[in-house]
Amino acid sequence: MTLIDSFGRVHDNLRISVTDRCNLRCTYCMPEDVTFLDRGELLTFEEITKFVRVAAPLGVNKIRLTGGEPLMRKDLHKLVRLLVPIPGITDIGLTTNGLLLKGQAAALRDAGLTRLNVSLDTLDTGRFRELSRRDGLDDVLASLEEAKALGFAIKLNAVAIRGFIEHDAVPLANYCRENGFELRFIEYMPIGAEAWEREKCFLAHELLELLEREVSPLAPSPDYDPRAPAMEFDYADRRGSVGIIASVSRPFCKSCNRIRLTADGKVRNCLFAHDEVDVKALLRSEGTEGAIADTIRRNVAAKWEGHEINSAKFVKPTRTMHAIGG
Ligand code: 5AD
Ligand code: SF4
Repeated sequence: MTLIDSFGRVHDNLRISVTDRCNLRCTYCMPEDVTFLDRGELLTFEEITKFVRVAAPLGVNKIRLTGGEPLMRKDLHKLVRLLVPIPGITDIGLTTNGLLLKGQAAALRDAGLTRLNVSLDTLDTGRFRELSRRDGLDDVLASLEEAKALGFAIKLNAVAIRGFIEHDAVPLANYCRENGFELRFIEYMPIGAEAWEREKCFLAHELLELLEREVSPLAPSPDYDPRAPAMEFDYADRRGSVGIIASVSRPFCKSCNRIRLTADGKVRNCLFAHDEVDVKALLRSEGTEGAIADTIRRNVAAKWEGHEINSAKFVKPTRTMHAIGG
């Protein structure tokens, strides 16, 4: 079975937000004064598991746990343990800011998690505070060290904002090359609380020029999939690779394979969608699997062509990133 939309896009990738809470306040993601959902509004681990049990036979095989900050959710490893054995699920990843990873990494590894994406925009304490309105760089670095020792495959995500990333791209690239982490830059998208301007986006070609000049020449990776969101490049000296998610300068909507489940139980077919459908009531009732499957199918079938960031038609969604799920 496949989840296919009217543009022929097959959806096999489910992003699950487990909480809208976060221990940072990144300016590009959320306002400083933010009201979070009441805990009772969040799906329980059992309800999330029920959703995945319905989605897997429809063709979902890849899951990413996100937030907010997913490790703000107590005992997240218990959810991983529930999801790992679901038939059809071949891949589970976690996106975290890393602050609370230290101390939880071993339990997550034991539960069967093997891959981590850690969001880190800078190795500079001052810019970390400026971007995230909080302190925490030392905790993130300690977490990364621990996760590396535990054998996780690790990617670092850095949002590329002009005025910041010019200073941070090269130190981040060197740090990742030294540690065997894959670095991924994400072009700054209009999904946060602050006013977005195109001029603030440090674009893919600018990143490539900077890395080639200051780190090493780059070549497209041989196993690079042109339909994947990230463009992949290998350093010519073979010490690692770097990815760029060029959501603005090279949107990947045409080959998008993602659906989302928000922390409060809404299905969204696009990060930038204006509509979402509730499944919480269904997840909280018995014998509703068929109705949940229908909701997912209909939501995918109704998916639009893409986000239109580059056209006058673009309308920013009312929820900000942390409330949708990264
Ligand atoms: N543009 C690009 N990426 C963003 N993220 C959060 N807000 C934005 C934005 N406005 C990233 C985080 C994290 C992932 C979940 O999404 O940095 O890596
Ligand atoms: Fe938290 Fe991630 Fe949003 Fe930063 S980008 S405030 S770490 S959810």
